[in-house]
Amino acid sequence: MQPQAWQLEWSDKLSVGIDDIDAQHRHFIELINDLNRAILDRMDLTEIRHRMQVILDDAAQHFAHEEALFAASHYPDADEHTKRHRQATTAFMRIMTRLSDNHTESEWIEAGLKVKQLLVEHLITEDKKYRDYFKAHKQAAAS
Ligand SMILES: [Fe+2]
Ligand SMILES: [Fe+2]
Repeated sequence: MQPQAWQLEWSDKLSVGIDDIDAQHRHFIELINDLNRAILDRMDLTEIRHRMQVILDDAAQHFAHEEALFAASHYPDADEHTKRHRQATTAFMRIMTRLSDNHTESEWIEAGLKVKQLLVEHLITEDKKYRDYFKAHKQAAAS
């Protein structure tokens, strides 16, 4: 089936070369697609809010996982990256609290797009930055 224009697709270009992180990123993309599907299908707001909360909880776990990995591997930009995680979480929570039951459909769609943009941008720009470090680190450990 042809993916819808709003759907995100996993591709190897998104890979950071660490299997469990890639699996978590893939899962993220699925959850974001689920949220946007709920918005476009006009599911009730309780369901949409629930899907947002699932993403937020998943993001918190995922960010903690990455941060533990940075600490274990002495990643030099850990502090900066951790700061980006805090910023993304705050921005996400702001999007959620701004929405209430009487918002219009277009505002919900906008919120869904913002969530998508926020997390995907983090993945593409910030998470990509540690890929090369871990690639070199892994090779160094293997040699
Ligand atoms: Fe990540
Ligand atoms: Fe990250």
